[in-house]
Amino acid sequence: MKIIVVGTGFVGLPHAAVLSEYGHEVYAYDIDHKRIKAYKSGDREEIERYVNEPGLVASVAENMGRYLFFTTDISEIVDGTDAVFLCLNTPPKRDGSSDLSYYLNAAHHLAELLANREQKNRVVLVNKSTVPVGTARLLENIMEEHGVENFGVASNPEFLAQGNAIAGSRRPDRVVIGADSEEDFGILRRVYSQFVNHVRIRYLETTPETAETIKYMANTLLLTYISFWNGVGGRMAESVPNIRMEDLKLGVTSDDRISTWGSYVSNGAGGSCFGKDIQSLIYQLNNAGRSTDLLQAVYNINEYQKTYIIDRAVYEAGFNFNQKTVALLGLAFKKRTNDMRDSAALKVVESLLARGVKAIRAYDPLAMDDARDFWFSPDKNHLFDRITYHASAKEAISGSDALYVSTDWEEFRGLSRTIEMTVKPPFLVMDGRRMIPDFETLVKAGYEYLPVGGTLLKAKAESQKRDNGKVPSKMASELETLA
Ligand code: UDX
Repeated sequence: MKIIVVGTGFVGLPHAAVLSEYGHEVYAYDIDHKRIKAYKSGDREEIERYVNEPGLVASVAENMGRYLFFTTDISEIVDGTDAVFLCLNTPPKRDGSSDLSYYLNAAHHLAELLANREQKNRVVLVNKSTVPVGTARLLENIMEEHGVENFGVASNPEFLAQGNAIAGSRRPDRVVIGADSEEDFGILRRVYSQFVNHVRIRYLETTPETAETIKYMANTLLLTYISFWNGVGGRMAESVPNIRMEDLKLGVTSDDRISTWGSYVSNGAGGSCFGKDIQSLIYQLNNAGRSTDLLQAVYNINEYQKTYIIDRAVYEAGFNFNQKTVALLGLAFKKRTNDMRDSAALKVVESLLARGVKAIRAYDPLAMDDARDFWFSPDKNHLFDRITYHASAKEAISGSDALYVSTDWEEFRGLSRTIEMTVKPPFLVMDGRRMIPDFETLVKAGYEYLPVGGTLLKAKAESQKRDNGKVPSKMASELETLA
Protein backbone atom coordinates (compact mmCIF):
# COMPACT_ATOMS: atom_id res chain seq x y z
CA MET A 1 0.00 0.00 0.00
CA LYS A 2 1.10 3.55 -0.61
CA ILE A 3 0.68 5.52 2.60
CA ILE A 4 1.30 9.12 3.69
CA VAL A 5 1.76 9.95 7.37
CA VAL A 6 1.17 13.64 8.04
CA GLY A 7 2.96 14.87 11.17
CA THR A 8 6.09 13.12 12.41
CA GLY A 9 6.04 13.60 16.19
CA PHE A 10 5.55 11.02 18.94
CA VAL A 11 2.51 9.51 17.18
CA GLY A 12 3.44 9.89 13.50
CA LEU A 13 7.09 8.85 13.41
CA PRO A 14 6.78 5.47 15.21
CA HIS A 15 3.60 4.78 13.22
CA ALA A 16 5.35 5.49 9.90
CA ALA A 17 8.38 3.41 10.88
CA VAL A 18 6.33 0.38 11.92
CA LEU A 19 4.07 0.55 8.84
CA SER A 20 7.21 0.53 6.69
CA GLU A 21 8.40 -2.61 8.50
CA TYR A 22 5.42 -4.42 6.98
CA GLY A 23 6.48 -3.56 3.46
CA HIS A 24 4.21 -0.61 2.78
CA GLU A 25 5.57 2.35 0.87
CA VAL A 26 5.40 5.03 3.54
CA TYR A 27 5.97 8.77 3.11
CA ALA A 28 6.45 10.57 6.42
CA TYR A 29 5.64 14.21 5.85
CA ASP A 30 6.13 17.26 8.04
CA ILE A 31 6.20 21.00 7.44
CA ASP A 32 9.10 21.31 9.90
CA HIS A 33 12.22 21.21 7.70
CA LYS A 34 14.61 20.83 10.65
CA ARG A 35 12.79 17.75 11.84
CA ILE A 36 12.78 16.08 8.44
CA LYS A 37 16.48 16.90 8.01
CA ALA A 38 17.22 15.29 11.37
CA TYR A 39 15.28 12.11 10.46
CA LYS A 40 16.92 11.90 7.04
CA SER A 41 20.37 12.13 8.62
CA GLY A 42 19.71 8.77 10.30
CA ASP A 43 21.80 10.04 13.22
CA ARG A 44 20.64 8.68 16.58
CA GLU A 45 21.13 11.90 18.52
CA GLU A 46 19.45 14.01 15.85
CA ILE A 47 16.40 11.74 15.68
CA GLU A 48 16.12 11.31 19.43
CA ARG A 49 16.13 15.06 19.93
CA TYR A 50 12.61 14.96 18.43
CA VAL A 51 11.28 11.52 19.34
CA ASN A 52 13.13 9.32 21.80
CA GLU A 53 11.64 5.81 21.73
CA PRO A 54 13.41 2.46 22.16
CA GLY A 55 13.79 0.70 18.80
CA LEU A 56 12.82 3.74 16.75
CA VAL A 57 16.23 4.67 15.34
CA ALA A 58 16.94 1.06 14.34
CA SER A 59 13.59 0.80 12.58
CA VAL A 60 14.15 4.08 10.71
CA ALA A 61 17.68 3.02 9.70
CA GLU A 62 16.46 -0.36 8.49
CA ASN A 63 13.68 0.99 6.30
CA MET A 64 14.71 4.45 5.14
CA GLY A 65 15.14 4.66 1.39
CA ARG A 66 13.51 1.26 0.85
CA TYR A 67 10.06 1.50 2.39
CA LEU A 68 10.25 4.69 4.42
CA PHE A 69 10.73 8.16 2.92
CA PHE A 70 10.85 11.55 4.61
CA THR A 71 9.61 14.66 2.89
CA THR A 72 8.45 18.24 3.38
CA ASP A 73 6.55 18.21 0.11
CA ILE A 74 3.79 15.74 -0.71
CA SER A 75 2.41 17.49 -3.78
CA GLU A 76 4.02 14.90 -6.09
CA ILE A 77 3.17 11.93 -3.92
CA VAL A 78 -0.59 12.12 -3.36
CA ASP A 79 -1.33 10.42 -6.67
CA GLY A 80 -2.01 6.75 -6.10
CA THR A 81 -1.98 7.01 -2.29
CA ASP A 82 -4.28 4.51 -0.56
CA ALA A 83 -4.33 5.97 2.95
CA VAL A 84 -3.28 9.20 4.65
CA PHE A 85 -2.79 9.13 8.43
CA LEU A 86 -3.19 12.47 10.19
CA CYS A 87 -0.89 12.55 13.21
CA LEU A 88 -0.89 16.21 14.20
CA ASN A 89 -0.73 17.56 17.69
CA THR A 90 -3.86 19.14 19.11
CA PRO A 91 -2.62 21.01 22.21
CA PRO A 92 -5.10 22.00 24.92
CA LYS A 93 -6.47 25.53 25.04
CA ARG A 94 -7.09 27.35 28.31
CA ASP A 95 -10.77 26.34 28.41
CA GLY A 96 -9.94 22.64 28.00
CA SER A 97 -10.92 22.46 24.34
CA SER A 98 -8.40 21.25 21.75
CA ASP A 99 -6.49 23.63 19.53
CA LEU A 100 -7.16 22.22 16.05
CA SER A 101 -5.19 24.84 14.12
CA TYR A 102 -2.31 22.53 13.07
CA TYR A 103 -4.80 19.84 12.19
CA LEU A 104 -7.02 22.15 10.14
CA ASN A 105 -4.09 23.68 8.27
CA ALA A 106 -2.88 20.22 7.30
CA ALA A 107 -6.40 19.08 6.35
CA HIS A 108 -6.99 22.05 4.04
CA HIS A 109 -3.58 21.68 2.42
CA LEU A 110 -4.19 17.99 1.86
CA ALA A 111 -7.66 18.66 0.44
CA GLU A 112 -6.22 21.04 -2.14
CA LEU A 113 -3.67 18.47 -3.24
CA LEU A 114 -6.17 15.62 -3.35
CA ALA A 115 -8.69 17.67 -5.33
CA ASN A 116 -6.08 18.16 -8.05
CA ARG A 117 -4.65 14.67 -8.23
CA GLU A 118 -4.67 12.85 -11.54
CA GLN A 119 -5.33 9.31 -10.44
CA LYS A 120 -8.73 9.15 -8.76
CA ASN A 121 -8.25 5.88 -6.84
CA ARG A 122 -10.06 5.54 -3.48
CA VAL A 123 -8.11 7.22 -0.67
CA VAL A 124 -8.94 6.95 3.06
CA LEU A 125 -8.06 9.84 5.34
CA VAL A 126 -7.45 8.54 8.81
CA ASN A 127 -7.32 10.45 12.09
CA LYS A 128 -4.64 8.80 14.21
CA SER A 129 -3.87 11.33 16.94
CA THR A 130 -6.55 12.18 19.49
CA VAL A 131 -9.11 14.62 18.14
CA PRO A 132 -12.50 15.68 19.51
CA VAL A 133 -15.47 13.46 18.70
CA GLY A 134 -16.90 14.61 15.37
CA THR A 135 -13.55 15.51 13.78
CA ALA A 136 -13.75 12.72 11.19
CA ARG A 137 -17.02 14.26 10.03
CA LEU A 138 -15.40 17.70 9.98
CA LEU A 139 -12.61 16.27 7.82
CA GLU A 140 -15.20 14.85 5.43
CA ASN A 141 -16.78 18.30 5.10
CA ILE A 142 -13.39 19.92 4.40
CA MET A 143 -12.67 17.40 1.64
CA GLU A 144 -16.09 17.96 0.10
CA GLU A 145 -15.69 21.75 0.22
CA HIS A 146 -12.50 21.43 -1.80
CA GLY A 147 -14.14 19.09 -4.31
CA VAL A 148 -12.11 15.96 -3.46
CA GLU A 149 -13.53 12.85 -5.14
CA ASN A 150 -13.49 9.18 -4.23
CA PHE A 151 -12.37 9.46 -0.61
CA GLY A 152 -13.43 8.12 2.78
CA VAL A 153 -12.71 9.30 6.31
CA ALA A 154 -11.82 7.11 9.27
CA SER A 155 -10.79 7.25 12.89
CA ASN A 156 -8.01 4.93 14.05
CA PRO A 157 -6.93 6.17 17.50
CA GLU A 158 -3.50 5.33 18.91
CA PHE A 159 -3.19 4.02 22.44
CA LEU A 160 0.57 4.22 22.85
CA ALA A 161 2.32 4.97 26.10
CA GLN A 162 5.63 6.83 26.03
CA GLY A 163 8.65 4.58 26.03
CA ASN A 164 6.64 1.83 24.40
CA ALA A 165 5.70 3.37 21.06
CA ILE A 166 7.55 0.94 18.79
CA ALA A 167 6.75 -2.25 20.71
CA GLY A 168 3.16 -1.02 21.18
CA SER A 169 2.77 -0.33 17.44
CA ARG A 170 4.10 -3.77 16.55
CA ARG A 171 1.85 -5.57 19.03
CA PRO A 172 -1.09 -3.35 20.07
CA ASP A 173 -3.83 -4.64 22.45
CA ARG A 174 -6.38 -3.59 19.91
CA VAL A 175 -6.79 -1.87 16.58
CA VAL A 176 -9.89 0.31 16.46
CA ILE A 177 -11.13 1.39 13.04
CA GLY A 178 -14.10 3.73 12.71
CA ALA A 179 -15.25 4.16 9.12
CA ASP A 180 -18.42 4.54 7.05
CA SER A 181 -18.11 2.04 4.23
CA GLU A 182 -17.02 -1.51 3.55
CA GLU A 183 -14.65 -0.17 0.92
CA ASP A 184 -12.78 1.92 3.51
CA PHE A 185 -12.72 -0.89 6.07
CA GLY A 186 -11.26 -3.03 3.28
CA ILE A 187 -8.42 -0.58 2.55
CA LEU A 188 -7.51 -0.38 6.24
CA ARG A 189 -7.64 -4.17 6.57
CA ARG A 190 -4.94 -4.29 3.89
CA VAL A 191 -2.91 -1.61 5.69
CA TYR A 192 -3.16 -3.60 8.93
CA SER A 193 -3.23 -7.08 7.43
CA GLN A 194 -0.80 -8.32 10.11
CA PHE A 195 -3.37 -7.54 12.83
CA VAL A 196 -6.57 -8.75 11.17
CA ASN A 197 -7.54 -12.17 12.57
CA HIS A 198 -4.61 -12.06 15.00
CA VAL A 199 -5.31 -14.35 17.97
CA ARG A 200 -4.24 -11.83 20.60
CA ILE A 201 -5.11 -8.49 19.02
CA ARG A 202 -8.68 -7.31 18.95
CA TYR A 203 -9.45 -5.83 15.57
CA LEU A 204 -12.58 -3.72 16.01
CA GLU A 205 -14.54 -2.08 13.20
CA THR A 206 -17.12 0.52 14.16
CA THR A 207 -18.36 4.02 13.33
CA PRO A 208 -15.93 6.99 13.29
CA GLU A 209 -17.75 8.64 16.22
CA THR A 210 -17.53 5.45 18.32
CA ALA A 211 -13.82 5.07 17.60
CA GLU A 212 -13.18 8.69 18.57
CA THR A 213 -15.09 8.22 21.83
CA ILE A 214 -13.25 4.97 22.64
CA LYS A 215 -9.99 6.89 22.83
CA TYR A 216 -11.32 9.50 25.25
CA MET A 217 -13.03 6.91 27.40
CA ALA A 218 -9.95 4.69 27.53
CA ASN A 219 -7.72 7.49 28.79
CA THR A 220 -10.24 8.93 31.24
CA LEU A 221 -11.00 5.48 32.64
CA LEU A 222 -7.28 4.91 33.28
CA LEU A 223 -7.02 8.27 35.02
CA THR A 224 -10.18 7.53 37.00
CA TYR A 225 -8.58 4.33 38.20
CA ILE A 226 -5.37 6.12 39.23
CA SER A 227 -7.46 8.74 41.05
CA PHE A 228 -9.39 5.98 42.79
CA TRP A 229 -6.14 4.56 44.18
CA ASN A 230 -4.69 7.94 45.06
CA GLY A 231 -7.96 9.34 46.38
CA VAL A 232 -9.27 6.29 48.25
CA GLY A 233 -6.56 3.65 48.84
CA GLY A 234 -3.88 6.25 49.43
CA ARG A 235 -6.08 8.35 51.70
CA MET A 236 -7.03 5.36 53.87
CA ALA A 237 -3.40 4.33 54.32
CA GLU A 238 -2.39 7.93 55.00
CA SER A 239 -5.07 8.29 57.68
CA VAL A 240 -4.97 4.97 59.55
CA PRO A 241 -1.62 3.76 60.88
CA ASN A 242 -0.78 0.14 60.13
CA ILE A 243 -2.50 -0.14 56.75
CA ARG A 244 0.10 -1.63 54.41
CA MET A 245 -0.27 -0.07 50.98
CA GLU A 246 1.50 -2.90 49.11
CA ASP A 247 -0.77 -5.54 50.71
CA LEU A 248 -3.82 -3.39 50.04
CA LYS A 249 -2.84 -3.27 46.38
CA LEU A 250 -2.22 -6.99 46.18
CA GLY A 251 -5.47 -7.89 47.94
CA VAL A 252 -7.66 -5.67 45.81
CA THR A 253 -5.99 -6.36 42.45
CA SER A 254 -5.89 -10.14 42.88
CA ASP A 255 -9.04 -10.29 40.84
CA ASP A 256 -8.97 -10.90 37.09
CA ARG A 257 -11.32 -7.98 36.63
CA ILE A 258 -9.05 -5.45 38.33
CA SER A 259 -5.66 -4.34 36.99
CA THR A 260 -2.48 -3.67 38.96
CA TRP A 261 -1.60 -0.90 36.52
CA GLY A 262 -2.92 2.30 38.02
CA SER A 263 -2.79 0.99 41.58
CA TYR A 264 0.65 2.50 42.14
CA VAL A 265 -0.19 5.46 44.34
CA SER A 266 1.73 8.51 43.24
CA ASN A 267 1.89 12.25 43.39
CA GLY A 268 -0.56 12.39 40.48
CA ALA A 269 -0.48 11.21 36.87
CA GLY A 270 1.11 13.59 34.38
CA GLY A 271 2.07 13.41 30.72
CA SER A 272 0.74 14.84 27.52
CA CYS A 273 -2.45 12.76 27.34
CA PHE A 274 -4.38 12.19 30.56
CA GLY A 275 -4.85 15.81 31.65
CA LYS A 276 -5.51 17.05 28.14
CA ASP A 277 -7.96 14.29 27.25
CA ILE A 278 -10.05 14.48 30.41
CA GLN A 279 -10.30 18.26 30.07
CA SER A 280 -11.33 17.88 26.47
CA LEU A 281 -13.97 15.28 27.31
CA ILE A 282 -15.33 17.53 30.08
CA TYR A 283 -15.50 20.36 27.55
CA GLN A 284 -17.27 18.18 24.97
CA LEU A 285 -19.84 16.89 27.48
CA ASN A 286 -20.45 20.38 28.87
CA ASN A 287 -21.05 21.58 25.34
CA ALA A 288 -23.67 18.86 24.97
CA GLY A 289 -25.29 20.13 28.19
CA ARG A 290 -24.39 17.00 30.19
CA SER A 291 -23.17 16.58 33.74
CA THR A 292 -19.42 16.12 34.18
CA ASP A 293 -19.33 15.67 37.99
CA LEU A 294 -17.43 12.38 37.92
CA LEU A 295 -14.79 13.54 35.46
CA GLN A 296 -14.37 16.85 37.25
CA ALA A 297 -13.77 15.01 40.52
CA VAL A 298 -11.22 12.71 38.88
CA TYR A 299 -9.41 15.68 37.37
CA ASN A 300 -9.39 17.63 40.66
CA ILE A 301 -8.16 14.66 42.68
CA ASN A 302 -5.32 14.12 40.23
CA GLU A 303 -4.28 17.77 40.12
CA TYR A 304 -4.41 18.20 43.90
CA GLN A 305 -2.48 14.96 44.35
CA LYS A 306 0.55 16.63 42.78
CA THR A 307 1.10 18.92 45.77
CA TYR A 308 -0.83 17.05 48.45
CA ILE A 309 2.28 15.85 50.32
CA ILE A 310 3.47 19.42 50.67
CA ASP A 311 0.24 20.26 52.52
CA ARG A 312 0.64 17.09 54.57
CA ALA A 313 4.21 18.10 55.43
CA VAL A 314 2.85 21.36 56.83
CA TYR A 315 -0.17 19.96 58.66
CA GLU A 316 1.02 16.50 59.66
CA ALA A 317 4.76 16.99 60.12
CA GLY A 318 4.54 20.64 61.20
CA PHE A 319 7.21 21.53 58.62
CA ASN A 320 7.60 25.22 57.85
CA PHE A 321 8.89 25.67 54.30
CA ASN A 322 9.66 29.34 54.71
CA GLN A 323 13.36 29.99 53.92
CA LYS A 324 14.08 26.24 53.73
CA THR A 325 16.06 24.46 51.02
CA VAL A 326 14.32 21.53 49.36
CA ALA A 327 15.88 18.90 47.08
CA LEU A 328 13.54 17.93 44.24
CA LEU A 329 14.37 14.53 42.78
CA GLY A 330 12.72 13.60 39.51
CA LEU A 331 11.28 16.22 37.20
CA ALA A 332 9.86 14.16 34.30
CA PHE A 333 6.24 12.96 34.51
CA LYS A 334 7.37 9.33 34.74
CA LYS A 335 10.59 7.36 34.54
CA ARG A 336 12.51 6.76 31.29
CA THR A 337 11.42 10.02 29.66
CA ASN A 338 12.56 13.63 29.65
CA ASP A 339 8.98 14.81 29.06
CA MET A 340 7.82 17.25 31.72
CA ARG A 341 4.41 18.07 30.30
CA ASP A 342 1.84 18.08 33.13
CA SER A 343 4.52 16.64 35.41
CA ALA A 344 3.87 16.81 39.16
CA ALA A 345 7.26 18.55 39.52
CA LEU A 346 5.86 21.68 37.83
CA LYS A 347 3.12 22.00 40.46
CA VAL A 348 5.50 21.06 43.26
CA VAL A 349 7.85 23.89 42.32
CA GLU A 350 4.96 26.37 42.22
CA SER A 351 3.75 25.25 45.61
CA LEU A 352 7.21 25.32 47.22
CA LEU A 353 7.94 28.79 45.87
CA ALA A 354 4.55 30.02 47.07
CA ARG A 355 5.45 28.71 50.52
CA GLY A 356 8.58 30.83 50.54
CA VAL A 357 11.38 28.29 50.17
CA LYS A 358 14.85 29.76 49.91
CA ALA A 359 16.07 27.28 47.29
CA ILE A 360 15.03 24.24 45.26
CA ARG A 361 17.88 21.90 44.31
CA ALA A 362 16.66 19.93 41.29
CA TYR A 363 17.91 16.71 39.76
CA ASP A 364 16.60 14.35 37.08
CA PRO A 365 18.58 11.72 35.13
CA LEU A 366 17.14 12.87 31.77
CA ALA A 367 15.04 16.03 32.04
CA MET A 368 17.53 18.70 33.15
CA ASP A 369 17.61 20.59 29.83
CA ASP A 370 13.85 20.55 29.56
CA ALA A 371 13.55 21.73 33.15
CA ARG A 372 15.79 24.71 32.44
CA ASP A 373 13.47 25.63 29.56
CA PHE A 374 10.35 25.29 31.72
CA TRP A 375 11.80 27.36 34.55
CA PHE A 376 13.73 29.86 32.50
CA SER A 377 13.70 33.20 34.30
CA PRO A 378 14.50 36.28 32.24
CA ASP A 379 15.19 38.54 35.21
CA LYS A 380 17.39 37.95 38.21
CA ASN A 381 14.69 38.52 40.81
CA HIS A 382 12.26 36.00 39.41
CA LEU A 383 11.23 33.25 41.82
CA PHE A 384 12.47 30.59 39.35
CA ASP A 385 15.95 31.87 40.08
CA ARG A 386 15.72 29.99 43.36
CA ILE A 387 15.94 26.72 41.40
CA THR A 388 19.42 25.30 40.99
CA TYR A 389 20.32 22.29 38.83
CA HIS A 390 22.49 19.44 40.04
CA ALA A 391 24.40 16.55 38.55
CA SER A 392 23.22 13.86 40.97
CA ALA A 393 20.71 13.06 43.69
CA LYS A 394 23.50 13.30 46.24
CA GLU A 395 24.51 16.77 45.11
CA ALA A 396 20.88 17.96 45.20
CA ILE A 397 20.32 16.58 48.70
CA SER A 398 23.49 18.11 50.07
CA GLY A 399 22.69 21.27 52.05
CA SER A 400 18.91 20.68 51.95
CA ASP A 401 16.42 20.61 54.83
CA ALA A 402 13.95 18.34 53.08
CA LEU A 403 13.61 16.15 50.02
CA TYR A 404 10.74 15.53 47.62
CA VAL A 405 10.77 12.44 45.36
CA SER A 406 8.57 13.23 42.38
CA THR A 407 9.42 10.66 39.65
CA ASP A 408 9.68 6.87 39.87
CA TRP A 409 13.25 6.58 38.49
CA GLU A 410 14.66 3.24 39.61
CA GLU A 411 17.88 4.85 40.81
CA PHE A 412 15.92 6.52 43.62
CA ARG A 413 15.34 3.15 45.29
CA GLY A 414 18.78 3.47 46.86
CA LEU A 415 18.10 6.91 48.29
CA SER A 416 18.14 5.99 51.98
CA ARG A 417 21.89 5.36 51.84
CA THR A 418 22.50 8.56 49.92
CA ILE A 419 20.48 10.53 52.46
CA GLU A 420 22.31 9.02 55.44
CA MET A 421 25.67 9.74 53.84
CA THR A 422 24.79 13.30 52.87
CA VAL A 423 22.60 15.06 55.46
CA LYS A 424 21.97 14.80 59.19
CA PRO A 425 18.54 14.81 60.82
CA PRO A 426 16.32 16.72 61.32
CA PHE A 427 15.47 16.14 57.68
CA LEU A 428 12.09 15.48 56.07
CA VAL A 429 11.69 12.98 53.22
CA MET A 430 8.51 13.47 51.16
CA ASP A 431 8.14 10.39 48.97
CA GLY A 432 5.64 11.02 46.19
CA ARG A 433 6.32 7.63 44.59
CA ARG A 434 6.97 5.21 47.47
CA MET A 435 10.49 4.79 46.12
CA ILE A 436 12.32 4.10 49.36
CA PRO A 437 11.68 0.47 50.34
CA ASP A 438 14.01 0.57 53.37
CA PHE A 439 12.50 3.71 54.87
CA GLU A 440 12.55 2.07 58.31
CA THR A 441 16.33 2.44 58.55
CA LEU A 442 15.93 6.13 57.81
CA VAL A 443 13.29 6.53 60.49
CA LYS A 444 15.45 4.69 63.03
CA ALA A 445 18.31 7.04 62.20
CA GLY A 446 16.09 10.01 63.08
CA TYR A 447 14.85 11.19 59.65
CA GLU A 448 11.16 11.90 59.13
CA TYR A 449 9.48 9.95 56.33
CA LEU A 450 6.23 11.08 54.73
CA PRO A 451 5.07 8.87 51.83
CA VAL A 452 2.01 8.89 49.59
CA GLY A 453 -0.15 6.00 50.75
CA GLY A 454 1.27 5.98 54.29
CA THR A 455 1.25 7.91 57.55
CA LEU A 456 4.09 10.15 58.68
CA LEU A 457 6.87 8.08 60.24
CA LYS A 458 9.40 9.41 62.69
CA ALA A 459 11.46 8.09 65.57
CA LYS A 460 9.43 6.77 68.55
CA ALA A 461 9.93 9.54 71.10
CA GLU A 462 8.75 12.11 68.59
CA SER A 463 5.81 10.15 67.24
CA GLN A 464 4.21 9.85 70.70
CA LYS A 465 3.72 13.58 70.62
CA ARG A 466 1.65 13.59 67.46
CA ASP A 467 -1.99 12.67 67.15
CA ASN A 468 -1.79 9.30 65.44
CA GLY A 469 -1.97 10.46 61.86
CA LYS A 470 -5.39 12.06 62.08
CA VAL A 471 -5.86 14.80 59.51
CA PRO A 472 -6.07 18.08 61.42
CA SER A 473 -9.32 19.94 60.85
CA LYS A 474 -7.42 22.78 59.18
CA MET A 475 -6.25 20.47 56.44
CA ALA A 476 -9.63 18.81 56.03
CA SER A 477 -11.19 22.19 55.31
CA GLU A 478 -8.40 23.02 52.87
CA LEU A 479 -9.20 19.84 50.98
CA GLU A 480 -12.85 20.78 50.73
CA THR A 481 -11.98 24.18 49.31
CA LEU A 482 -9.71 22.65 46.71
CA ALA A 483 -12.27 20.07 45.68
C1 UDX B 1 -0.91 7.30 28.60
C2 UDX B 1 -1.73 6.02 28.35
O1 UDX B 1 -1.17 4.93 29.09
C3 UDX B 1 -1.79 5.70 26.87
O2 UDX B 1 -2.63 4.57 26.66
C4 UDX B 1 -2.34 6.89 26.11
O3 UDX B 1 -2.39 6.64 24.73
C5 UDX B 1 -1.49 8.12 26.40
O4 UDX B 1 -1.43 8.35 27.81
P1 UDX B 1 1.66 7.94 28.90
O5 UDX B 1 1.22 9.37 29.06
O6 UDX B 1 2.84 7.68 28.06
O7 UDX B 1 0.45 7.07 28.29
O8 UDX B 1 1.98 7.42 30.38
P2 UDX B 1 1.54 6.25 31.36
O9 UDX B 1 2.63 5.27 31.44
O10 UDX B 1 0.17 5.76 31.11
O11 UDX B 1 1.56 7.06 32.75
C6 UDX B 1 0.76 8.23 32.98
C7 UDX B 1 0.99 8.79 34.37
O12 UDX B 1 0.36 7.97 35.35
C8 UDX B 1 2.46 8.88 34.78
O13 UDX B 1 2.69 10.10 35.46
C9 UDX B 1 2.62 7.67 35.67
O14 UDX B 1 3.70 7.79 36.54
C10 UDX B 1 1.27 7.66 36.38
N1 UDX B 1 0.87 6.35 36.96
C11 UDX B 1 0.80 5.24 36.19
C12 UDX B 1 0.54 6.29 38.31
O15 UDX B 1 0.57 7.30 39.01
N2 UDX B 1 0.19 5.09 38.84
C13 UDX B 1 0.14 3.95 38.10
O16 UDX B 1 -0.18 2.89 38.65
C14 UDX B 1 0.45 4.03 36.73
